[in-house]
Amino acid sequence: MAEGRVQNKVAVITGAASGLGLAAARRLAEEGARVIMADINAEAGAAEASQITGAIFVQHDVTSESSWQRLVDDVVKDFGSLDVLLNCAGIVQLASIEDTSDELWKKINAVGTDGTFYGCKHALRVMKQQGAGSIINMCSTASIQGGPFIFAYAASKSAIRGMTKSIACLCSQKGYGVRCNSIHPGNMATPMLKNMYDIVRVHDPVTADQMDAMWVGDPGDVANMVLFLASDESRAVNGAEMVVDNTATITEGFVPK
Ligand SMILES: NC(=O)c1ccc[n+]([C@@H]2O[C@H](COP(=O)([O-])OP(=O)(O)OC[C@H]3O[C@@H](n4cnc5c(N)ncnc54)[C@H](O)[C@@H]3O)[C@@H](O)[C@H]2O)c1
Repeated sequence: MAEGRVQNKVAVITGAASGLGLAAARRLAEEGARVIMADINAEAGAAEASQITGAIFVQHDVTSESSWQRLVDDVVKDFGSLDVLLNCAGIVQLASIEDTSDELWKKINAVGTDGTFYGCKHALRVMKQQGAGSIINMCSTASIQGGPFIFAYAASKSAIRGMTKSIACLCSQKGYGVRCNSIHPGNMATPMLKNMYDIVRVHDPVTADQMDAMWVGDPGDVANMVLFLASDESRAVNGAEMVVDNTATITEGFVPK
């Protein structure tokens, strides 16, 4: 059988029980990776992992640094290396700055900003010793465009974008052999997006009708970008922001179906 594009690479994916993380887990496993699917949702995560050859599930809360320490150390002990980390766990709740409480701000940033910070920090700790590794951070077009009702989410994704570039610069300056890139999907058909659309439909049917007329991407398209960044094919790509949005950012979101 032909070698896969990420044959035998050890990949940790957070948020892997659903949506984009799940699609990435399937795609990397198809291409020969050994995938550790990490998610706070143990029931869905274990069920999905049982359907994917080459994947296992580990319950993990990205907001806890001690959980990250344990996960990374266990992966290196059990699999011998950590070659790829996809920070994909994320949550969103619609609110403008005017409606964003301190609690909501902290909740969204705990998963997105803190979770990605801890993940990058602990992955880098082992990847630099290996002299190789690929860290991939799931951002969003929200970090490029913002949006009136995604205040904390856009801020968190912008923080992740900045972290990504800073890590990439450090790694290239120090010659660590580690790459760090971000992916910026437009609207993708996942449970997160469906939930958002359902909420908009209840509060603002006119906007919901407009949203229904717009392009929505397939999680598999984002998974293919993850595959490229995880593989050695992208060895010269470092600190880049890979937009997967069928022009949404350059057409102000108006991409017809
Ligand atoms: N769907 C889109 O249109 C879209 C667009 C741009 C960016 N994104 C980003 O892609 C990522 C995945 O989104 P999705 O649409 O697949 O969402 P999703 O809700 O389908 O999946 C998110 C997963 O993250 C997990 N999670 C939440 N909190 C966690 C925690 N504390 N620790 C570990 N896991 C946790 C959830 O259990 C869930 O399985 C997110 O970072 C999101 O912001 C999504």
